[in-house]
Amino acid sequence: HGYLNASHAHFLLSLLLLLLLPGSEETCPSICLCVSDAVICSSSGLSKLPLSVPSFSTTLDLSHNHLSWLGPGSFKRMPRLENLRMAHNQLSSMGIGVFHNASGLRHLDLSSNKLQVVEQHYFQGLWRLEELLLYNNKIAQVESSTLIGLSSLKKAYFSLNQITHFPFFSIQDHSHPFLTMLDLSSNRMSRLPWEDVKALPRLVQRGLYLHNNSLICDCSMYSVFWHWDLRGYESLKDFTDEHTCTILGDQRGSIRFLRYTRFFQNCSMEKAVSQPLTVLLSNVLVSEGRRVRLDCQTSLSSTDLSFTWLSPSKGYITEDSINDTLISLFPNGTLEIQAAKVNDSGLYVCTAVDIKQALNATREVNVTVLLPAAESFNTGYTTLLGCVVTMISILVYLYLTPCRCSCCKQPKPPVIPIATYDPSTLTSVFSPSARDQSKIQTNKHVAFMEPMLSEEGTQRFSPSFFLVPPCKVQLCMAQRMRKLS
Ligand SMILES: *[C@@H]1O[C@H](CO)[C@@H](O)[C@H](O)[C@H]1NC(C)=O
Ligand SMILES: *[C@@H]1O[C@H](CO)[C@@H](O)[C@H](O)[C@H]1NC(C)=O
Ligand SMILES: *[C@@H]1O[C@H](CO)[C@@H](O)[C@H](O)[C@H]1NC(C)=O
Ligand SMILES: *[C@@H]1O[C@H](CO)[C@@H](O)[C@H](O)[C@H]1NC(C)=O
Ligand SMILES: *[C@@H]1O[C@H](CO)[C@@H](O)[C@H](O)[C@H]1NC(C)=O
Ligand SMILES: *[C@@H]1O[C@H](CO)[C@@H](O)[C@H](O)[C@H]1NC(C)=O
Ligand SMILES: *[C@@H]1O[C@H](CO)[C@@H](O)[C@H](O)[C@H]1NC(C)=O
Ligand SMILES: *[C@@H]1O[C@H](CO)[C@@H](O)[C@H](O)[C@H]1NC(C)=O
Repeated sequence: HGYLNASHAHFLLSLLLLLLLPGSEETCPSICLCVSDAVICSSSGLSKLPLSVPSFSTTLDLSHNHLSWLGPGSFKRMPRLENLRMAHNQLSSMGIGVFHNASGLRHLDLSSNKLQVVEQHYFQGLWRLEELLLYNNKIAQVESSTLIGLSSLKKAYFSLNQITHFPFFSIQDHSHPFLTMLDLSSNRMSRLPWEDVKALPRLVQRGLYLHNNSLICDCSMYSVFWHWDLRGYESLKDFTDEHTCTILGDQRGSIRFLRYTRFFQNCSMEKAVSQPLTVLLSNVLVSEGRRVRLDCQTSLSSTDLSFTWLSPSKGYITEDSINDTLISLFPNGTLEIQAAKVNDSGLYVCTAVDIKQALNATREVNVTVLLPAAESFNTGYTTLLGCVVTMISILVYLYLTPCRCSCCKQPKPPVIPIATYDPSTLTSVFSPSARDQSKIQTNKHVAFMEPMLSEEGTQRFSPSFFLVPPCKVQLCMAQRMRKLS
């Protein structure tokens, strides 16, 4: 979004002619379009900033022009400016304090220009800036304190430049709490300060794009990507083939290192990343006395894993420690409890350990064992069932009991034990018989999750009940309705 194509511009022009007051020409530069609080001067052949721009504007589009330099306080007369688009210009540098008094900027697009050095003063004071677009410039250097103070930054795009070094250390949890995208792909980085990279906030690591650089293959590089890959980061999944490194910096020895890992077989992955691997939490609902299986599928894909479960009622469970026929641990890590008890509820944590690679990963399962006679469940369910049964009784009475009206020509009443649904028993329907109650209790968990799919429910709620009544049956139904009420 952002750029206006010809048809948009045409539409906006018509809008302008229709809506704008003649007086607004005073402030809107003649070569620009001013619509609402946006000033659009794209593709206007500008080599300088327009002289007077409406001061209330929040969006200024200067893309596709010939601007080559911006001086101090260029936007000081636009205190409400939030979006500034200057893509596709000739900017090679900017003076000190370009954005003085424009601290409301949230979106700054400087992509496709000719910037060579991102100087530390460029973005000073832009503490509200959320999105910074600098891709496709000629940037070789990003000065170390460039990003300091950009505390609202969410996304920063530096790809397609010639960056060899980036100040990763300046990005920390407290300095950039919202940063989730840092695109440094297609640059010229060969060696990264991996310790700084590993110290980046988790969200930044997840959104760090480093593909298509000129990385040199070595174990410290590989182990970082290997751990990111294990965590399933999109940045790696989406660009698997673009992740290349060169052996000894020789371009001919380029390896797609996420695919071909043989070169790194001697690398030791120990201690490479100190944070624990992904924890997957799932919820399991089971009613008392039922068998339950908890799987231990983690991000580790090796087939040679050993598993340990930590259970709330039995402590650590390993294959050797099982002294209980009611519980079993399968070789694939699945834990089976033969008859769940209410006391078995709680958080189960499985740790899968890959001994060869000295790796471990955990999976958490939150087990809730439902007590059959738990009163809190009963009340709600009984009411619900009461309503359903009542409704069905009424429907059965209305539709299916023999109709004595002369208007009806139904040949034979369907074989239905009318007695049980006789309206005279309606009062007792609200308090189901003891037999019904036991049925309800065993099916409770099912009923709560999918009320209409329990076996009982499907039988009672046979679709025929909802068919449109034939021709004149409605008439006798109306009579019955009156009788019922
Ligand atoms: C910038 O804003 C401050 C107050 O917010 C004001 O004192 C100063 O004159 C402004 N500078 C310019 C160049 O407009
Ligand atoms: C890789 O980067 C080079 C410039 O460094 C660029 O020309 C090329 O298009 C990029 N390739 C991909 C697939 O992004
Ligand atoms: C890995 O180590 C083995 C033996 O230690 C060696 O023969 C092999 O060349 C090494 N592989 C690489 C890619 O360095
Ligand atoms: C199993 O547990 C019982 C008591 O709970 C104990 O007496 C017995 O020695 C245990 N057996 C093994 C093999 O640990
Ligand atoms: C694990 O093994 C058990 C028994 O062989 C099987 O029932 C279960 O489906 C397996 N679990 C997974 C996640 O493969
Ligand atoms: C569950 O645990 C509590 C104490 O933690 C105990 O008093 C109770 O008897 C246990 N219930 C069952 C069914 O084991
Ligand atoms: C799992 O790894 C962490 C460090 O990554 C270690 O502190 C912990 O003891 C390991 N747990 C097991 C069960 O090996
Ligand atoms: C587990 O589930 C219970 C009930 O469903 C819930 O109250 C509890 O907060 C859950 N625990 C975790 C750690 O998610």
